[in-house]
Amino acid sequence: MTNGTPPFGRTVRIKGTGSYVPERILTNRELESIVDTTDEWIYSRTGMRERHIAADHEATSDLAAIAAQRAIENSGLTPADMDMILVCTSSPDMFFPNTACLVQKKIGAHRAFCFDMEAACSGFLYGLEVGRQFVQSSSAENVLVIGAEKISPFVNWKDRTTCVLFGDGAGAAVLQAGNGRGIMETIMGSDGLLADLLIMPGGGSRYPPTPETLKSGIHFIQMQGREVFKHAVSNMTKAALDILKHTGVSIADVKYIIPHQANARIIHAIGQRLGGRPDQVYMNVERYGNTSAASVILALDEVARGGQLEKGDLLLFVVFGAGFTWGAMLMEWDNS
Ligand code: COA
Repeated sequence: MTNGTPPFGRTVRIKGTGSYVPERILTNRELESIVDTTDEWIYSRTGMRERHIAADHEATSDLAAIAAQRAIENSGLTPADMDMILVCTSSPDMFFPNTACLVQKKIGAHRAFCFDMEAACSGFLYGLEVGRQFVQSSSAENVLVIGAEKISPFVNWKDRTTCVLFGDGAGAAVLQAGNGRGIMETIMGSDGLLADLLIMPGGGSRYPPTPETLKSGIHFIQMQGREVFKHAVSNMTKAALDILKHTGVSIADVKYIIPHQANARIIHAIGQRLGGRPDQVYMNVERYGNTSAASVILALDEVARGGQLEKGDLLLFVVFGAGFTWGAMLMEWDNS
C-alpha cells in the first residue's frame, strides 16, 4: 500500500515526542551467566551491549504512560487536548481493556477515544499512518501514537538464540496538522505466508493457556533468525527505495535514516544498499536491543531531544516485523 499526500485534506506533522525505558539494565556480561553465550558473540552478531528490562510491577501501560506524558509536555499541550490515543504493542497489559484505555486513565486524557493495534516491530510506523489519516481528514486534531513493549516476559530466557535480542521500552508522538509537508509518503506491506518464521503461538484463541501449553513453551517468542534476517534486509531496502523513487527525493537529501533497531548488521546492510553515508543512519541498538514497536520512536525521540533536527529536515523511517509486516515513511520535520 502506498499513500502520498492527497490533493485534499491537511498535512500532518509530529508536534512532540517522548520516551521512557525502565531503570534496570541487563548487560551482555550478565547474559553470560543466564545462557551459553558471550559478550563478544552478541556484540559481533547484533551490535547490542545492553537492554532495559521492566520491573515485575511495571506493565506496558506504565512505560507507555510515562512516554505519553513526556510527548504531550514536549508538544506544549495537556492530556485533555488529546482526541485519540493509539497504542501499538505486541505485549498489551491484558487482552482487554486495550492498553490505550489504561494509558488514558493514567494520564487523564478524558476526551480521547482509545484503541490498540498490533503489527509487531512495524507497529509504530503503522500507527503513525493510522493517526495521520484521522488528522488529515479532520476527524481529530491531536492524536497520541505510542509504541510500547514489555516484551521480556514473552522471551524464553533459556533460548540463547532469542533472549539476547530483546528489550523493554516505550516512545510516543503527538500528531497535529501543520503548514509544511509533514508526513510526505508512507509505504506498508505484509506477507502472512511467512507468519511462522517469527511467532508466539500460545496464549491466544488458537492455543489458550493450559498446563500443557505452558509446559511446551509455546507462549514464548520463536524465531528462525537467519530467514528473518534475509527478509528484513530485502523488504526494508525495497520499501525505502520505493518511497524515494515515488517522491523523487535523493538519499543525499535525507538527514537521518531511522531503521527499526533489530540488529546492527541489518541496519548497516540497509544503509549501504540505500547508498547512505554512515552518519545518516541512526543507530542506538547497542543500548536498547530490539524494543519492537518502541524502537523507531525511541530513536526519533533521542534525535529530536539531542537537538539534531531542524525544521525542514527529511527523515526516512523503515521498519520490519513479525507477520511479516514492513513499511517506510518519509517525513519533513517541523515541530515549531
Ligand atoms: N550466543 C552464542 N552462540 C549463539 C547464540 C548466542 N546468543 N545464538 C545462536 N548461537 C549459535 C547458533 O547456535 C549457531 O551455532 P551452530 O553453528 O553450532 O549451530 C551459531 O551461533 C550461528 O547461528 P546463526 O543463527 O546462523 O547466527 P546468525 O549470524 O544468523 O545470528 C541472529 C543470529 C539471531 C543474531 C541473526 O540471525 C538475526 O539477527 N536475525 C534477525 C533477528 C531479528 O531481527 N528478529 C526480529 C525482527 S523484527
